Amino acid sequence: MAVERPATPARARAPARPPVGLLSGHLGALRLVARPTLRDVRSPKDFFRPLAVGAPAPLREVPWRPSRMIHFFDPSNARMVAKLPGLAAQVDVLLGNLEDAVPAAAKEPARAGLVEVARDVDLGTTSLWTRVNALDSPWVLDDLTTLVTEVGDRIDVVMVPKVEGPEDIHYVDRLLAQLEARGGVSRPVLVHAILETASGMARVEEIAQASPRMQGISLGPADLAADRRMKTTRVGGGHPGYLVRQDPHDGDAPRATYQQDLWHYTVARMVDACVSAGISPYYGPFGDIADVVACEDQFRNAYLLGCVGAWTLHPVQVDVARRVFSPAVDDVAWARRVVAAMGEDGRGAVMIDGKMQDDATFKQCSVVLRLARDLAARDPELAAAYGMEAGR
Ligand code: GLV
Ligand code: MG
Repeated sequence: MAVERPATPARARAPARPPVGLLSGHLGALRLVARPTLRDVRSPKDFFRPLAVGAPAPLREVPWRPSRMIHFFDPSNARMVAKLPGLAAQVDVLLGNLEDAVPAAAKEPARAGLVEVARDVDLGTTSLWTRVNALDSPWVLDDLTTLVTEVGDRIDVVMVPKVEGPEDIHYVDRLLAQLEARGGVSRPVLVHAILETASGMARVEEIAQASPRMQGISLGPADLAADRRMKTTRVGGGHPGYLVRQDPHDGDAPRATYQQDLWHYTVARMVDACVSAGISPYYGPFGDIADVVACEDQFRNAYLLGCVGAWTLHPVQVDVARRVFSPAVDDVAWARRVVAAMGEDGRGAVMIDGKMQDDATFKQCSVVLRLARDLAARDPELAAAYGMEAGR
């Protein structure tokens, strides 16, 4: 019997990079800009067709689940694996890491260990993600094939490292569909890109919109720094040399310096790319495990700019992430006051404690309240602190 095949999506035939066009720029200088043409854009009708016969239909909305901390573990490390049921009660996401930090000799045991975790360990309602090896590595094909065909229904999200552009997501998208079909997976495995190449950064908007599987993007500050040839040797965080200095004053009087945030531009652009694509942005790792104070500052900057979570590499960072990525109790109480004062439709203007509130502050407060409600549903302690119902 002939099998009806979905139409070949236009994007499969698209060139890897958009053609380059010329536009005149400031003061008559010529500027090179990428101009997408119709050939580069998949038909909207095809976007939600499965990319393989028998694969589950792509989702129209990415299901939002709390993911304040994506806690990394090495599935080849039996001691760490033994702690997973206890950890699952404290974190939103457990991520079996197969990539960097796992030595070459442990790549296969890590992959096999993750299959066992997915099959045998009860993680309750905590999500299980993985970070597979890079697309140019000798391991990634077996990572994806094994995980999706053997435990595809247990893996919620696949994190893809060192993404260079939308073509990397297209490759993973099609391969996942083929593997889901082979493994009889009932819902699409979602994809999360790590922003850790200059090319990925330059095309972060295209990456965010490359597939309905896209769940989110994380900053990968260590690899991104190396790829950009930044002169840092840390995993995330600031640098004392990246500063501004007060203007000269009073002759030779000492001039104050103020350290700046190395990641501001990157995180802010990533947030815009993600939110405009309907997916979630995350700060990545903070490598100085002992410096929980600076970790908290860096996470909070990301939270205030719009990120929904960060990676945790050690249990001491879990509480930091929970504290930072859950709205403060006072902020929730304030948001409630504003929303109550503005009324059901949030239109008009009112004064509260001398501060003007209008439709826009109503919307900001609604963002805080929605997040608080979603988190309270998962976290009974937060529910009690917010005065909300748990398990809603
Ligand atoms: C994470 O993978 C990083 O490179 O920072
Ligand atoms: Mg990296």
